[in-house]
Amino acid sequence: MVKIAPSILSADFSNLKNEIIALEKAGADMIHIDVMDGHYVPNLTFGPEIVRVIRSLTNLPLDVHLMVEKPETMIHWFTQAGADILTVHAEACKHLDATLNSIKEQGCKAGVSLNPATSENVLTYVLDKVDQVLVMSVNPGFGGQVFIPEQLQKIARIKSLIGNRNIQIEVDGGINPLTAAECVAAGADILVAGTSVFASKDYRKNIDALR
Ligand code: DX5
Ligand code: ZN
Repeated sequence: MVKIAPSILSADFSNLKNEIIALEKAGADMIHIDVMDGHYVPNLTFGPEIVRVIRSLTNLPLDVHLMVEKPETMIHWFTQAGADILTVHAEACKHLDATLNSIKEQGCKAGVSLNPATSENVLTYVLDKVDQVLVMSVNPGFGGQVFIPEQLQKIARIKSLIGNRNIQIEVDGGINPLTAAECVAAGADILVAGTSVFASKDYRKNIDALR
């Protein structure tokens, strides 16, 4: 069954502790944490201290999405703060292969994210060190954007590139019950959702609607 990773970008930050507890109770499979540096994307969000706090509140896997420039300089901050999966943008890495090595050496699962305009071809020579491919189905930076349908083709192409390797395909941006079904049909294993999970107080109902 498809896994749902609620993005806390849409959570009530004044009540973060209870939001995390509520997501766990509602059946979330992991917690997606969007780290933005104000340079790689035009928005600024969480640093490693927030990841550390969330780590103390839940045993769910922490899926940390780094939308930052020079992610290689920050990997240790987030592995030490308790991230389980650390995803970097292919476009933000000068030496993607080396950055993935460094994530794995520090005991985390390694993810590569691709912006909407980036071809899946950048994965060809690093696939054997990747645990997760994150397909951005909106331009990174903000919640609440509209799903870009061309990404469905990309999901299917990545699925065939992966073959029988144990790599998860995660899709992030504009996920609602309709686009969720399309992504799963194309080969997605994990769906990130902010707006649609936090749209109303019944998080379980909203998560179940995406499954
Ligand atoms: C966007 C982030 C997403 C965002 C998704 O840059 O990577 O994780 O929270 O939000 P929705 O589900 O509202 O599109
Ligand atoms: Zn994200």
